[in-house]
Amino acid sequence: MRNPRILVVDRDETLAEAVREAVGENRPTPEVHICTKPAAVEDVLTEEGPFDILVAGPGLATRAGLARLAELHDVRPDMGVVLVFSRRPNAALRDIVRTGAVDILQLPFADGVLRGALDRVIEMNQTRTPVPANVTGASSNGNGSGPKEPGLVFTMSSATGGCGKTFLATNLAYMLSHYTGKQACVIDLDLQFGEVSTALRLRPKYTIFDALEKADNEDADLDAHIEDYLVKHESGFSILAAPRDPSEADRIEPTDVARVIRAVRNHFDYVVVDTPAALTEVVLAAFDMSDVVYTMATLDLPSVRNMGVFLGTLERLKISSENIRLILNKAERDVGIDVDQVTKLFTQGFKAVLPYAKEVSRSINVGMPVMASSPGSEISQLMLAGFKDLLSESVQNEIATEASSHRRFRLFRRAPALTTT
Ligand SMILES: Nc1ncnc2c1ncn2[C@@H]1O[C@H](COP(=O)(O)OP(=O)(O)O)[C@@H](O)[C@H]1O
Ligand SMILES: [Mg+2]
Repeated sequence: MRNPRILVVDRDETLAEAVREAVGENRPTPEVHICTKPAAVEDVLTEEGPFDILVAGPGLATRAGLARLAELHDVRPDMGVVLVFSRRPNAALRDIVRTGAVDILQLPFADGVLRGALDRVIEMNQTRTPVPANVTGASSNGNGSGPKEPGLVFTMSSATGGCGKTFLATNLAYMLSHYTGKQACVIDLDLQFGEVSTALRLRPKYTIFDALEKADNEDADLDAHIEDYLVKHESGFSILAAPRDPSEADRIEPTDVARVIRAVRNHFDYVVVDTPAALTEVVLAAFDMSDVVYTMATLDLPSVRNMGVFLGTLERLKISSENIRLILNKAERDVGIDVDQVTKLFTQGFKAVLPYAKEVSRSINVGMPVMASSPGSEISQLMLAGFKDLLSESVQNEIATEASSHRRFRLFRRAPALTTT
């Protein structure tokens, strides 16, 4: 086993000295690095490669410091975080929890406290199983025909319509299947007015309603036949379409939705769920089964305000915010509200801020995800950057190598050619 690597982030070297002393007699002896500029910690991680433990000193015991740690934890969930404070930070408990800290220590240390904490984190790292929100942990179901482990479920949501849920759902499914070579399926849970098939110019033979009607309450039956009810897009991922008629939609219960998601994830590595702009029981059933929920807003006051109301409602419904990631879409300059103002309102931060892009309308007109039709466009690149932590490190490295050699992305499958029919 390689030596554990520890990064100590603090404004001076005292804490790093204490860490070195505490782990000095361990076998194997951990490598201890120091970063004295908290703002530069991301750069150090990029340049020096992965660390097993991050020890955050009192310099990070501010709200901004904790927010930065929470962002790091989102991107590098496998890195064990230990917080060291001189006094309890002036921040809400949830801000501390979001950093993913596995231990919190107060200065000055009593004998053996620091060593005990570091030993525990090293031990935990050795026995850790992959974190579900990281797609590197996804099962490989091969051709989608035989279940191994259930796939990961990502759900799109928003308080207002037109935020780009359907747009993002199709692009995320494309990205995951294209760059990993694994199987992805979009479930259109916008049961009354679903537009996934229209956006992809598909004419599905069957819908979610047909799949449920055939299965007649038998989970095993649904599981066995679900693939017969899907339609495959030429760019590589599958779709379970919304009902043809709103009256059929009314007959689908939240429990049916849970059954369908369970069946689809048994056959696919990635399941992307598109929803209507509402907090219905059906949408909440999808949230319950999701590894990550993306909540979207566009850069305008009603949408941003309603995103706040939406998140507040989830909190009142006691739905954990841990798996929720925010996305700001159609960000344009000079619209009377700017991105900085919005990011200040949502301290949890945005996973991605996407611009308004004409390539999107073009992609819709040809029934393609924009990441397939214009992979080099700014919006495609920003989506790739925003969601890259869902890809394994090796895939990320290949993408970076491709990008630096200015070639188009064609790692596993060729991006399908654009057709104008
Ligand atoms: N970043 C973007 N730039 C330009 N057009 C976009 C962008 N995101 C979405 N759109 C377009 O906006 C419209 C609404 O998006 P859609 O995904 O249908 O929203 P929702 O599903 O949340 O109602 C669609 O025509 C879509 O193509
Ligand atoms: Mg939609």
